[in-house]
Amino acid sequence: MIVMVGGEKGGVGKTTLATHMAVARKTAGHTVVLVDADSQGTASTWSDARKEHPEVPQLPCVSLRGGKVHVELRELARHYDDVVVDTGGADSQEFRSAMLAADTLLMPLRPGSFDFWTLLKMQEVVALAEGFNDNLQAVVALSQVPPSAVDRARREATEILAEMPRFRLLNCMTVFRAAFNHSAGEGLTVDEMPRRDSKACSEIAFLHNELFGA
Ligand SMILES: Nc1ncnc2c1ncn2[C@@H]1O[C@H](COP(=O)(O)OP(=O)(O)O)[C@@H](O)[C@H]1O
Ligand SMILES: [Mg+2]
Repeated sequence: MIVMVGGEKGGVGKTTLATHMAVARKTAGHTVVLVDADSQGTASTWSDARKEHPEVPQLPCVSLRGGKVHVELRELARHYDDVVVDTGGADSQEFRSAMLAADTLLMPLRPGSFDFWTLLKMQEVVALAEGFNDNLQAVVALSQVPPSAVDRARREATEILAEMPRFRLLNCMTVFRAAFNHSAGEGLTVDEMPRRDSKACSEIAFLHNELFGA
């Protein structure tokens, strides 16, 4: 399965979710490649940091750029059970190209940054890709939700997305937790940190179940 994470500009949690899903697939016994298709290269930096940790399973990380990313993703999908792609914003060539090959587009959405117009624009871009890729499923997961605003965030997102039938809101979300930030710099996941934040781990397990049904 090809899962890409993308959709909004910086800081919404794309790389965090992409790296966590790649490791979750590996841990579940699948072969996986992480693809860095964001010019900022954060997934590659995470992957380099991970090499300092021989105690955790290593994953190949491949950097892809440009408008032919979909061709390379299809090729990778012949060799790996799962391909997890970290992309940038909707206006990047890599984002648009990756959508031609992806089975799932996961869009993290931060509450408070709900921008109806951005999502509408995204709908148009996804609709274009769907014309070339029947498989594409676009899903939204709330990300970095303040602990005190979990219910409100879900309510608001449900209302906004009710008007966008192309996008399915996942039940899972990540709450704002320091563990996510700490693990990122180490090239690890929240599960792999010495002081494990079990709530953060549950959120990731839930996302993994919803995306991969495993
Ligand atoms: N649920 C979360 N709680 C706290 N910090 C988070 C969470 N998700 C991501 N972060 C942090 O927010 C920053 C941006 O996340 P990142 O995944 O790099 O976003 P993007 O790839 O969309 O730019 C990083 O420092 C990351 O560690
Ligand atoms: Mg990123």
